[in-house]
Amino acid sequence: MSTSDKEEPSSSSSVTFRLTLGRFAEGPGCSSSGMLPASSDDAILVVLCLFVPWWDRGSYKQRTSNTSVTIGGQEYPVDSWTNVTPAIVEKIPMQLYLKPHHPLGIMRSLIESSFSGFSCLNVPSPVVSTHQNFDELGFPPDHPGRSVTDTYYINKETVLRTHASAHEIEIFKQGHDMWLLTADVYRRDEIDSSHSPVFHQMDGAQHFATDEASMDALQEENERLGKQLASSNIIIVDNTKVGPTNPYQEGHQPKHAELVVGNMKHSLNRMIYNLFSTRRDGNSEPLRVRWIEAYFPFTSPSYEVEAFFQGKWLEILGCGVMKQRTLDFSGLPDRIGWAFGLGLERLAMVLFSIPDIRLFWSNDPRFLSQFTPGEITTFKPYSKYPPCYKDVSFWVPKHKIVHDNDFCDVVRDVARNLVEDVKKIDEFVHPKTEQTSVCFRINYRSMDRSLSNEEVNKIQAQVSNALVERFQVELR
Ligand code: PHE
Repeated sequence: MSTSDKEEPSSSSSVTFRLTLGRFAEGPGCSSSGMLPASSDDAILVVLCLFVPWWDRGSYKQRTSNTSVTIGGQEYPVDSWTNVTPAIVEKIPMQLYLKPHHPLGIMRSLIESSFSGFSCLNVPSPVVSTHQNFDELGFPPDHPGRSVTDTYYINKETVLRTHASAHEIEIFKQGHDMWLLTADVYRRDEIDSSHSPVFHQMDGAQHFATDEASMDALQEENERLGKQLASSNIIIVDNTKVGPTNPYQEGHQPKHAELVVGNMKHSLNRMIYNLFSTRRDGNSEPLRVRWIEAYFPFTSPSYEVEAFFQGKWLEILGCGVMKQRTLDFSGLPDRIGWAFGLGLERLAMVLFSIPDIRLFWSNDPRFLSQFTPGEITTFKPYSKYPPCYKDVSFWVPKHKIVHDNDFCDVVRDVARNLVEDVKKIDEFVHPKTEQTSVCFRINYRSMDRSLSNEEVNKIQAQVSNALVERFQVELR
């Protein structure tokens, strides 16, 4: 590789995008509009103001104080916590789940159609405080999800939401008592065909009054839903127990909590049944669904639900009775309710047979023209462009660590969507110098065109340069 091939990442950049946002979603089962008024021109402005890529700024602590990130017209100061990158920020305005022909849009509207009377919401800006994302929901201060290797920080107090549940209290405060929220969420991750640092979740919740008449009405509703399910072609395996490891909450009457759990189970079993019925291709075998005890900091008791599909148990969702603190913080101390959350991509990949998570971001008409609103159809693969592997080996200075997610964010920022996967293929510590040698294999492949070796070499050189600047590694 000649040095002239190498291009230094720019030391400062200013990028402006103006993209059209759709109106707030209103699915077939939905009773009302979104939680926020759509802006007059439905546009969101994402500006990276003097946003110096973080690998270009030395260590987090050495960064200058006069830089900021602007997302949706709002400016956020950066600090030593900032690790959000331009490749991530430019995905924010995409709102794939609002596109009726897109598999994520299809999933959203199918799920919404199972919950009649629910408000169907979205919150276009993924920027939330660490308080909203973690503290309000009871995540302990040392929870691993808070670490800079797992979460995209805009600054110490501000993150890109890591889950849709970050909006629970905000939504309850706006007066919605039964709602579904679809949201893009962000988690730092490695690069492969099933992981993406941006993905989509749907959360839903409902709360009830606890007076006798309301609880009697809930019991009746549960009986109705139970009968409906009993006459459906579904087998529900549920050996879960409420007990010391997965208790009803102090302050809840067990009878009330039991009715809420019952309502949640029926509602979610019905949604899963409806969703999978669309893809069972005349299969007369009953759908098998199983309930497992789980743990979330913001629900108790908590559960995970799996469905048996194409020979495997597939994890569908997490759920539980909302911790009372959530409803207390929402100004609803007398109510009791349930909540659930699910990841859309993983489910869509299985139901539509979509083999690579990057396809959701493709603009290729061969992908986008395949889908019909309201229908789950099998994706027909088209020929892939050839892959191109490149290895990069380097020495990491003694006492320094290059986390795999740090490496992947550098690759993503330089190569954007041109990388199919990244694998660490070698790692050892030199016995004398105590430096660590690491080798990563980057598999370059475009979804939409053939990449020339020359082009890939150029990108690879930029990746190497960025690594040296960001982590002071020594290339081998
Ligand atoms: N927010 C949880 C997650 O991201 C899912 C969840 C939502 C669990 C609501 C319980 C209740 O995994």
